[in-house]
Amino acid sequence: MSSAHRETQPEQTLVIDNIGSLITNDPSLGRGPLGIVEDASVVIQDGLVIAVGPAGAVADQRIDADGACVLPGFVDSHTHLVFAGDRAEEFTQRMAGAPYEGGGIRVTTDATRAANSGELHRLTKLRLIEAHQAGTTTIEIKSGYGLNVVDEVRLLEVADSYVEDATFLGAHLLPAEFDGRADDYIDLVCGEMLDASAGHAKWIDAFCETGAFDVDQCRTVLEAGKAAGLGLRLHGNQLGHGPGVQLAVETGCASVDHCTYLDGADIDALSGSSTVATFLPAADFSTRQPYPDARQVIDSGATVAIASNCNPGSSYTTSMSFCIAIAVREMHMTIDEAVQAATVGGAAALQRPELGRLTPGSAGHAVVLEAPSHHHLAYRPGVPLVRHTVGPLLDLVGTGSPQA
Ligand code: NIG
Repeated sequence: MSSAHRETQPEQTLVIDNIGSLITNDPSLGRGPLGIVEDASVVIQDGLVIAVGPAGAVADQRIDADGACVLPGFVDSHTHLVFAGDRAEEFTQRMAGAPYEGGGIRVTTDATRAANSGELHRLTKLRLIEAHQAGTTTIEIKSGYGLNVVDEVRLLEVADSYVEDATFLGAHLLPAEFDGRADDYIDLVCGEMLDASAGHAKWIDAFCETGAFDVDQCRTVLEAGKAAGLGLRLHGNQLGHGPGVQLAVETGCASVDHCTYLDGADIDALSGSSTVATFLPAADFSTRQPYPDARQVIDSGATVAIASNCNPGSSYTTSMSFCIAIAVREMHMTIDEAVQAATVGGAAALQRPELGRLTPGSAGHAVVLEAPSHHHLAYRPGVPLVRHTVGPLLDLVGTGSPQA
């Protein structure tokens, strides 16, 4: 439904009918932890679910699910969608044995700085359309390939024109012109760059890793972001054990992302915190990292999410289905847990409780699968199983207006 259509006919209703298996993510509405309702319908009005009930509900518009599975749209809580350039050669070398070290961020920074804003909009829109077609209805977008004041702001303006969750990632990597002067760069990030960026971002993030920024530098960035009114997120524990998870919990980050290398103390810290552990399985796939054991983290009581981490270096995919399949096959998540992590888990990571569920009052963002159950998301890896996505991303690409 286009936003123009919504403005002129706000009372229009949409029913997704004849749903064979509806994932509500509310156990009080149906079977098991996913709250599955059989032979169901969902009615949506003005972007919100207004009814969940038996098949046969009537509305102004109708999508016939024809017995298929319907689930909440995927909430992709970690992407770097605004970039120019291509690093297929780097990936090819990695598959031949070269390690991933994060230095390729500078390659993308050069290409992105050289691209004009029209080109960045065009590339970002293409990736948003691709994500929508794969069932994503909400997406977070980070900056981090500008690494100077002008270009970080330019990336955030692009991101902020499409999504509600734009993240300032000036502390992604030290740009070449600051070699040997990391603390000077952190001063810039926390000063002029943050001042210019904060109005275009909801979140601040930093890459806490050997070769990127150390724990004190990241703490400085997070504290500055918090003082500027931004919510906190952190990249941590991607390439080895390190202090990222502990820092994220200590500073009250909404999410710590990657979590590839976790020890017992990290898991203990996550389990007693409100910080979501966000796994990025496609990054571990594309960088040949070992897969984390999500089972231990889930069993500890921590909240977990799965996100695509779409970026040109470590994870060039927008497919949340692909991430679900890897999480189930390699990270010891059940299919139910992986689907939850990609929907309601992502919503928790973005602190948006209205997302990731199909319950009265929640966002009417839904995916109709070309499959009878959500199990097919892992059972049929690599198959484009999304028949229909009901959600705002395509409208936003058309209008360039902020995400509802
Ligand atoms: O989340 N880890 C840092 N940033 C990205 C990688 C970016 C790149 O290689 O271009 C990530 O994996």
